[in-house]
Order: sequence, then structure tokens, then C-alpha cells
Amino acid sequence: MPAGQPHGVISPDFLGNTHNVILGMDDLVEQLRASGSVFAEDEARLLTESAESPAQLDSMLQRRISGEPLQQILGWAEFCGLKIRVEPGVFLPRPRSEFLVEKAIRLGHRGATVLDVCCGTGALGVATAVGLGAADLHATDIDPIAARCAAANVDEVGGRVYQGDLFDPLPRSLEGRAQLVLVNAPYVPTAELPLMPREARLYEETITLDGGDDGLDVQRRAIFQAPTWLAPGGHLLVETSDLQADSTMRLMKDIGLKVTLATSNEWGATVVIGRHPT
Ligand SMILES: C[S@@+](CC[C@H](N)C(=O)[O-])C[C@H]1O[C@@H](n2cnc3c(N)ncnc32)[C@H](O)[C@@H]1O
Repeated sequence: MPAGQPHGVISPDFLGNTHNVILGMDDLVEQLRASGSVFAEDEARLLTESAESPAQLDSMLQRRISGEPLQQILGWAEFCGLKIRVEPGVFLPRPRSEFLVEKAIRLGHRGATVLDVCCGTGALGVATAVGLGAADLHATDIDPIAARCAAANVDEVGGRVYQGDLFDPLPRSLEGRAQLVLVNAPYVPTAELPLMPREARLYEETITLDGGDDGLDVQRRAIFQAPTWLAPGGHLLVETSDLQADSTMRLMKDIGLKVTLATSNEWGATVVIGRHPT
């Protein structure tokens, strides 16, 4: 369990608790595997642990077989070793975003002011706060369901969530104070949305994915606004794609940030980091 872990954000250690075996595990695994699940044993165990009755287990199994993401059925997703609450329609935190969190933790310090803009469940901000030991975390999302879901997670680390467009809902008193601004905005070009995996297309709201014509509509506005909120020497970290990395870097250079590119083959992740001049 990571140091400083708050009550209610639970490490995956709890996954070992198999207290509630209702259906034959072999049947469950077989049905999940037949429906295309690659991790059928793990999924069967998690569903079994989560169900409170045979009827509920059957209903959860049917939802999974019909393609609903496991995390939405369980009501939580694992991210950076933490259990993050999720709600239907909210963007599920992706493993690749753990790379951005790793970078943020290295650039921050205990007690840092952290802004998580376009926060979804709030996973990035919460994991960064846990990794730093403590943080003054403020998160925003335009989607009321995401903001409500994030509030449950962010509250666990003593942070606050605000609903609205990018930085708009934040208290002005935070201007010039953020050591870290985390941005994983939607970055899929509109024309590519039909190519997204079925789970994303059917179970995540379009607003969580759609980045406009070039995929950069939301990210571009977030980058332009970030310097107002960064402390001198503070860092803006933006998750982007390989193909969009040059454009993201250019946007950040154009507003006077000192830019570095961080990529990870292991995570399949690309993060552009901009340092605000001191
Ligand atoms: C790709 S998801 C990422 C969520 C979260 N950062 C994560 O990595 O798990 C993008 C999020 O941006 C939010 N969003 C889209 N447009 C926004 C805007 N103009 N202002 C604030 N949030 C926005 C969506 O509701 C969605 O939750």
C-alpha cells in the first residue's frame, strides 16, 4: 500500500478476499472466456467477490458478457495501485496515464498545489497527491457526472472538485500558485471516434473522448490558460498521442514554457511537460 494512503482509497491487496463464492467458478470463467475475456479468472474472482447474491452475480455476469467494462460493473477501477470509484459514462482511467502521474510525482513535492483539469474520476490528481504524501488538490470537469464521481475520490485526499469549463470554476486565489497542472483532456480527433474500441464508444460519453477536428481543441485551450495558474517554476503535464506530440509541444513553446517530451514504450504513453519560467 503506498505511503500516506487515505482511508477509502484501497490498494489492490484487497483483491485476495474471496469470501462470497456463489456460482461455480469454473462455469463463470468459461462463460467469461467464451465472451472474449482475456483475464477470465481474474474477472470471475472480482465479480464473485463483489456480488451480494446469486441473482446479482448473474446480472453482473450478463452485463460483462454483453461488453460493459468490468470497472463500471464493479464501480471502481484500479489506478496506480489505488481503488478509484467510477460511475456509468465517466471516462475510465487508463493504465498509460500512470506514466504522467510518475512524472508529476517526481516534479512535485509534499504539500504542492496540484490542479487536475479535465479530471474525469479524479484519478490522476488523487494518485499524484498520494504519491507526494499530501497535496493541495483542486480538480475540474465540465461533466456533472464526472465532477460528482471525482468528488468522492478527491475528497479522500482532502481535495476539492469544481464543475465547469477547464480552469473557469477554480477560485481566483489559486492563480499563480500551482506547482503542477495535470491535463489529460479528450484528444481523439472527431473523425477517429468510430475507430475507438467498442467499450469506449458505447460506455464512455463522447465529451470524454472528442477532441474536435485535430483532437486538440480542448487541450489547446487548456495549454493557453495554464500559465495564469502556474507558480514560477511550476510544471504543466499534458498527456497526448505520439502523432500529436509535435503539435502539443509547439503549443506549449508558443506560450513561453520550457518544453520536454517524455515517452514510455512500456506504458504506450506520451506526455509533454512544460516548465513555467521562474
Ligand atoms: C480523456 S478524459 C480524461 C479524464 C481523466 N483526466 C483521466 O485521465 O482519467 C477527458 C475528461 O475531460 C472532460 N472535459 C471535456 N471537455 C472539458 C472542458 N471543456 N472542461 C473541463 N473538462 C472537460 C471530460 O468530461 C472527461 O472527463
